[in-house]
Formats: sequence, structure tokens, C-alpha cells
Amino acid sequence: MKVEICTLFPGFFSGPLESSILGRASTAKLLDVRLHNIRDYTHDKHQKVDDRPFGGGPGMVMKPEPVFECVESLNLEPGTPVILTSPRAPLFTQQTAVDLSAYSRLVFLCGHYEGMDERIQEHLATHVYSIGSYVLTGGEPATLVMLDAIVRLIPGVVGKMDSVEQDSFMEGLLDCPHYTRPAEFRGWKVPDILMSGDHSRIESWRQQQKLLETKRWRPDLLAQHQMSPAEQALLEER
Ligand code: ADE
Repeated sequence: MKVEICTLFPGFFSGPLESSILGRASTAKLLDVRLHNIRDYTHDKHQKVDDRPFGGGPGMVMKPEPVFECVESLNLEPGTPVILTSPRAPLFTQQTAVDLSAYSRLVFLCGHYEGMDERIQEHLATHVYSIGSYVLTGGEPATLVMLDAIVRLIPGVVGKMDSVEQDSFMEGLLDCPHYTRPAEFRGWKVPDILMSGDHSRIESWRQQQKLLETKRWRPDLLAQHQMSPAEQALLEER
């Protein structure tokens, strides 16, 4: 996957893109991230990327010209997603990550200051997403979060694909708890069922735990989940 990140702060990405799974994906040539400094697409002496808002008010607004020119310099194939980060947008979810992971090229536009001139969202971006109901200092951390969630779905990036398929959110539910050795740690024991070797009972326990965890922490997700009669029975068993 080729990823173009248009930003005023390319330095923000250098550590995270070189570390851990994103770094490995780049080394393995599964991921090719290019950083583009929007400021390089200004033409004035002061390299001005923002200006005061029309109509007055606090803060500055990012000017459209350098952002359009930055994206236009990429010569995108038609249909390439151009993703704008903004708190004024629908939420980025696991399903969004799944959908975007199918593309071979993505562009991220990192918003800043009070915002971006609205014509960028209307006429340049094809998608706009927020990563949560809070305001960040800029779009860079949001881009990193989205990119991380997308890249780990590319086949080969995470060792075992079935571990991805069993993740939280993949079936609209949170994941179940996991344990490893030792079987007893400071007097706290691993649930007996996991030591039983009975794989069908273990599977059923895990499914029940997924339902209970979702009910406890994210009842909003459980309310949207299409509950099968078997799942209903698992929930009522407790
Ligand atoms: N920029 C500022 N806050 C944001 C958020 N919550 N999501 C995406 N981009 C943002």
C-alpha cells in the first residue's frame, strides 16, 4: 500500500513510522509512506499556509491553495481516497479500516489551526473522519491512528491473520480476556475452563466473554449487534 501524508509537520511521523509493526511493514515493502510538506507548495516569501477567517473570530484557517497544489502534485489515479482528518466528521471505525485497507493507495490530509478552508473538504477530500469525540492539536495523531488500524489489516503485516479476525470489533463485539503462563500468579488463577483442553467449551466460554465484556464496557455496541438465539442464551446463562 502506498500512503501519501500531506502535513505541515512531517517530523511528527518519523518515530512512529519506523517503529514496531508500521516499521516492519515498510521494511517488508508492504507499506510505502511518503510525507509531503504542505508548506513546500506556497509561492510567497513567507510561505504562508494560514490566514484570518472571513467574517472574523479567533484562530487561523488553513489556506486552500497549498493544500490543493500538494495533492495535485501526486497525480492520483481517479478513485484514490483523499482522507481529511477533522473532529467535525463521522467516526472512524473498524469497518472504515477494513474498507480502506482494500485500496492500494491512500492520501491523508492533516488539518490544523482552527480548521481548513471548507473548500478543501468539499472539493478535494473524498472522505472525512474523526477518531473520537475530543479535539486534538492537529490531524497528525489522528492520521497515525487511522493508518495503524488500516495497515495491520493488510495481509502479511501482522503474523497471524486469524488473530486479526478475532480482534475486538471485528464481529461488532469486544474481544474476550486472554491469559498465559503462569497458571497461578500471586494467588490469582486462570479460569479453569481454559486449562480443561475441551475446545468446544472453551470456544463457547470465549463467545460468552465477548458478549459480557461488550455489555459491560460498550453497551452501545451490544445494542447494535444482531444477537443470535445462541448468543442470547449465552448472555442469559450468567
Ligand atoms: N483533529 C482534531 N481533532 C480531531 C479528531 N478528534 N479526529 C480527527 N481529526 C482531528
